[in-house]
Amino acid sequence: MSNYDALFPRNFHKMLPVAVRGEGSWLFSADGRKFLDASGQAAVVNIGHGVPEIGRAMAEQSSQLAFAHTSQFHSAPAEKLAARLLALAPPNFRNGGRVYFTSGGSEATETAIKLVRQYHLEKGQSARYRILSRHQSYHGSTLGAMTVSGNLARRAPYQPLLAEWGHIAPCFCYHCPFEKTFPQCHLACADDLDFFLEGKEADSAAAFIFEPVVGATLGAAVPPEGYAARIAEICRKRGILLIADEVMTGMGRTGKPFAVQHLGVEPDIILVGKGIASGYAPLGAVLVSQNVVEAFEKGTGSFKHGFTYQAHPVATAAGNAVLDYIETHNLFARVAPAAQALSAALAQLQSHHHVGEIRGLGLLLGIEFVRDKSTHAPYDHSQVIADKIRSAAMEEGVLTYPIQGCVNGTSGDHILLAPPFIITTEESALIAEALTSALSKVFPN
Ligand SMILES: Cc1ncc(COP(=O)(O)O)c(C=O)c1O
Repeated sequence: MSNYDALFPRNFHKMLPVAVRGEGSWLFSADGRKFLDASGQAAVVNIGHGVPEIGRAMAEQSSQLAFAHTSQFHSAPAEKLAARLLALAPPNFRNGGRVYFTSGGSEATETAIKLVRQYHLEKGQSARYRILSRHQSYHGSTLGAMTVSGNLARRAPYQPLLAEWGHIAPCFCYHCPFEKTFPQCHLACADDLDFFLEGKEADSAAAFIFEPVVGATLGAAVPPEGYAARIAEICRKRGILLIADEVMTGMGRTGKPFAVQHLGVEPDIILVGKGIASGYAPLGAVLVSQNVVEAFEKGTGSFKHGFTYQAHPVATAAGNAVLDYIETHNLFARVAPAAQALSAALAQLQSHHHVGEIRGLGLLLGIEFVRDKSTHAPYDHSQVIADKIRSAAMEEGVLTYPIQGCVNGTSGDHILLAPPFIITTEESALIAEALTSALSKVFPN
């Protein structure tokens, strides 16, 4: 039973500690324990916990101007943050791109879905409405975002409420859906989009949404060379927009401001959330490239969509303060060496007979646990291996992010590691030690 009885919890059967303080890469609970936050909670806390400058900037903004409705006013912090994000984005966002701020990642996905639909209406293509996506993906928990998500377990209870717009194969070399190997596969998983669009309903396709590195659902699966470029080429050829969901991978998590910058593609829309305000405020953003903006400017000029709290002055002030902190401490540049130190520390786990793969990019790493290392066969999901690892690591004082379903939506166990960019080499060693101990408890033989 829950130890709190007024809050509606995520799980009524779990006892959770009460978090009271955060500092750097550490969280402290009311019962006197401290935890090393190896997952940045859920890949959120990029700059670390308890940075006083952020709270000060938010307090200052809220005493100056806490709220003004976006149908009546613009606000300076939102405009400033929008310009800074566009300057970090790929070139097609820099001249004439715009940013739509939301209160989180799911709202960003919802906004993109409607933006794409209206874009095609503005261009006179009223048949286009389907947003295609991949199996085993996650783009948020609201109904539109779940419609484009491909995670079976999260969709299952809500199936009757969800439209079916089409999902293609995931890009997941460790469990290739075509049982092929790169490069002999010739990127069959990318061509799956083309095959789908040869179908009779191709004229209703509006966009394709993908995570450049698949975070939660596949445990930091990085696409092979050429995948994203092939996908971008198919989208252009078929007249549909490309949406990069960078809610988890954006704002430096992979070592560049946006993960697509490793892959050399220019999507039409980029979604941001999580790290944009590093957990200090609920904030998300939709970066809209110049070609999409132009369709609205030359068309009706009015986007039929809105949230009361969009472009919130205090939330965007938090975003600006986080970016100031990143710039002052050169934190984007810190990701690559910190990731190298963490990967080096984790290398000792690789030989464990139930560690299938350690993968990822920058400070977004996944560790997949398998029953049989030679065949990559997963444990039955009823064994809840990932959560057992989380629990054992937590007993050692290290927080991880466990998920099941990477193989087929239900089976497949992994944990995500996404620590703050300030993680030290000593802290990385603590993470590896805690996981070694967790592995020996969960797999005693
Ligand atoms: C890739 C991706 N998109 C969207 C979301 C939804 O974001 P939020 O939980 O802020 O609504 C998430 C959350 O985990 C995510 O990982």
